[in-house]
Amino acid sequence: MKEAILLVGGQGTRLRPVTVNTPKPMVPAAGVPFLAHQIARLAAAGVEHIVLATCYLAEVFEPYFGDGAGLGVRLEYVVEDEPLGTGGAIRNAAERLTCGPDEPVLVFNGDILSGLDIAGLVDAHREAAADVSLHLVRVADPRAFGLVPTGPDGQVLAFTEKPQTPEEIVTDQINAGCYVFRRSVIDTIPAGRPVSVERETFPGLLASGARLHGQVEDTYWLDLGKPESFVRASADLVRGIVDSAAVPGPRGEALLLPGAQVADGATVSGGTVVGAGARIEAGAVVHGSTVLDGATVAAEARVTSSLIGAGATVGRQTVVDAAVIGDGAQVGAHNELRDGVRIWCGAVLPDASIRFSSDR
Ligand code: GDD
Ligand code: MG
Repeated sequence: MKEAILLVGGQGTRLRPVTVNTPKPMVPAAGVPFLAHQIARLAAAGVEHIVLATCYLAEVFEPYFGDGAGLGVRLEYVVEDEPLGTGGAIRNAAERLTCGPDEPVLVFNGDILSGLDIAGLVDAHREAAADVSLHLVRVADPRAFGLVPTGPDGQVLAFTEKPQTPEEIVTDQINAGCYVFRRSVIDTIPAGRPVSVERETFPGLLASGARLHGQVEDTYWLDLGKPESFVRASADLVRGIVDSAAVPGPRGEALLLPGAQVADGATVSGGTVVGAGARIEAGAVVHGSTVLDGATVAAEARVTSSLIGAGATVGRQTVVDAAVIGDGAQVGAHNELRDGVRIWCGAVLPDASIRFSSDR
């Protein structure tokens, strides 16, 4: 297991500008672009060569990650003229693989953070003599995912992407977005047209009698589809709940990037990241949050489980809980922002304009 493909393209690549105007894989988690952690985890598992399958964003990744040497891997980039879908992207990227036809190739969705024992999945794949192995996790609500029921030996029985009816929900096991493919199986994916690995390749392989192995492992697993999950991921990386060699500092309650200022009497905890040049003023409490570069959290503000965009300000005594403040937004003093509210990039919210709590 020396080679991997990372899928980082497709429609959902950009976060909505209401949050941070950065391609998703480059949104910072624990101080570095999220993708750095995936690459670091693959490197730690012994992967030497990674092909990044992107649609049109190579120009964003390449200046940052270069040839991958800084992360201990050899990194290559392939682009698609039009989005080829997950299967098409795997097929397209496979042109850069160098391994033999029977060798295992890892494939990762680029928007998940997983504590999976990667080498263990490859071992299980070999043991099962599978054509494809899939990491599965159990979730309370599987509707937004690919459902993968398995038999007693872990053989995959069906693959239902995004079930539409209650009858289709036959299991709580979902596709965790990490596969091991036998190299030669990738060559059976049609080239040069969009293919969904979930809707076309996996059902097709099953119908043709191929051996698909499902490995249920309840490890740390987080889907980063929403900005709030970036905040969670970042805090968990900072605290070491999930391990990544790409975190630029020791594990602990907070990660202060160069030039971050935390005033005496301010509290930063719960895996908070304070970005370069960001300022937390006296008496402010920031817990489990990401404060991006150059942002300011003013005196006695309380910020929990939130993302404060680059250069944004949070005014005195303002409460921000489970919210996203866009880059450059200015939130005045004495506001209360809660429950998934998102403030547009650059928006200006005057002092005392929003609250959730009742009159006192
Ligand atoms: N290069 C490239 N080209 N990458 C793509 C394309 C494409 O056309 N389309 C999607 N991707 C990448 C995305 O960037 C993402 O990293 C990954 O493939 C999965 O695509 P999503 O669009 O995020 O799919 P999803 O989240 O709705 O569902 C997928 O992930 C779930 C787990 O998080 C499926 O694989 C589900 O079965 C799975 O449960
Ligand atoms: Mg996704």
